[in-house]
Amino acid sequence: MLTTLGLLLSLAVPVLGVYVSASCPRGKQCRQALLSGNDILLDCNSSGAHWYYFLPHGRDHRSSSLLGVSNIEIMPEGSLIIRNPLPSQTGIYYCLNKNGTQVVRYEIDFQDVTTLHVTHKGLGQNPLQNETLRLGGKELIFTRWEPWQDCNRCGEPGERKRLGYCYVEEPLEEPTPCWLYLGEVAVWISRMRPELQVEDCHAQCSDDEPLRVDYVTFDNFQLNEESESVWLSCPLGSIYRPVIWEADDMPLTWKGQLSGWDVNTFLDPSTGGKQLRVFQPAIYKCFVQQELVAQFNPRPSLETLEVQMEENEAQQQEAGATAQWKADSVLVGLKLVLLVGTVLALAGVLLKFCRPSQGKRRERVLLVK
Ligand SMILES: *[C@@H]1O[C@H](CO)[C@@H](O)[C@H](O)[C@H]1NC(C)=O
Ligand SMILES: *[C@@H]1O[C@H](CO)[C@@H](O)[C@H](O)[C@H]1NC(C)=O
Ligand SMILES: *[C@@H]1O[C@H](CO)[C@@H](O)[C@H](O)[C@H]1NC(C)=O
Repeated sequence: MLTTLGLLLSLAVPVLGVYVSASCPRGKQCRQALLSGNDILLDCNSSGAHWYYFLPHGRDHRSSSLLGVSNIEIMPEGSLIIRNPLPSQTGIYYCLNKNGTQVVRYEIDFQDVTTLHVTHKGLGQNPLQNETLRLGGKELIFTRWEPWQDCNRCGEPGERKRLGYCYVEEPLEEPTPCWLYLGEVAVWISRMRPELQVEDCHAQCSDDEPLRVDYVTFDNFQLNEESESVWLSCPLGSIYRPVIWEADDMPLTWKGQLSGWDVNTFLDPSTGGKQLRVFQPAIYKCFVQQELVAQFNPRPSLETLEVQMEENEAQQQEAGATAQWKADSVLVGLKLVLLVGTVLALAGVLLKFCRPSQGKRRERVLLVK
């Protein structure tokens, strides 16, 4: 029997794991729509598990072992991590224990995130409408919405998002995610797209213990000279989690982007804003589940370095001014000292900025639920 609702994405977890995970009760089969391009962990609590898959859209129509698939990794405790899954990896994933008995079976529809239909309620934008297909009988294509994710800020106006997956419903049948429904049938129907909807929200800050995620600082990002931009990636961010970025302490919103106000940054819809493209140097911070997880400092420009150098020089000259009575020969020596001091100071500044600072974030390899 297929347990559709037995599968839960662990989203609002008390501790942020590196991977968002999907789980399914032992001995059951679970069917779930997800998005391509976003890492996911399929839970299988059986150490030394073997995984096999069957991909109706793949070249090979037999079940094959997942060993050696470049974006897939089997963890020692049995779970499967699929990094940056492709729509063509839609299919059935079997987890077998050491003895070859099936522990769980997942039917996963990795819907193509590059076709994501993004709308904002606050801008009066409408999600996709239901559409009737006539492939054989009378099929209805509709969007099945996930619950709203938490507000991405608290105590201040924020935004929240929800994901909607494409489903097909036949009369008297359980709805099925679109590409699992189509199986090997290759048709292109423009209505068949996953969705992302955003709305404004205002959440109270909870009294709960903060997650205490130690944040990471990345020094030294630099705009690419050709494209005049750079992509920043928020660690622990995911399309399945609330994420927000700030540029010099100003929040970057989907509303600002979708209405065309914000032109200096671009939140990547296909990662739910985990990735941010920036066109201006500024201090960027990202928050996941309302917790600061990373700060990105730009590499200081040449002008900034020069100002710093001048400041150093001024300080040292001030110190030197009290010794003005000194003879010329002494001054020459002093200048040399100043020069050496400046060079050392500059080298210090360069060293400081050229070395990416080591994050002190606690190493959390994995967290299942
Ligand atoms: C995993 O399985 C073991 C043994 O069957 C059980 O004791 C344990 O509680 C399970 N862990 C989870 C997280 O389900
Ligand atoms: C595997 O089979 C052996 C022998 O039949 C049994 O003792 C063991 O409990 C089984 N292990 C699992 C994980 O089912
Ligand atoms: C679209 O179809 C779904 C599934 O049958 C249904 O729940 C929903 O109410 C429909 N929406 C509209 C606007 O008709």
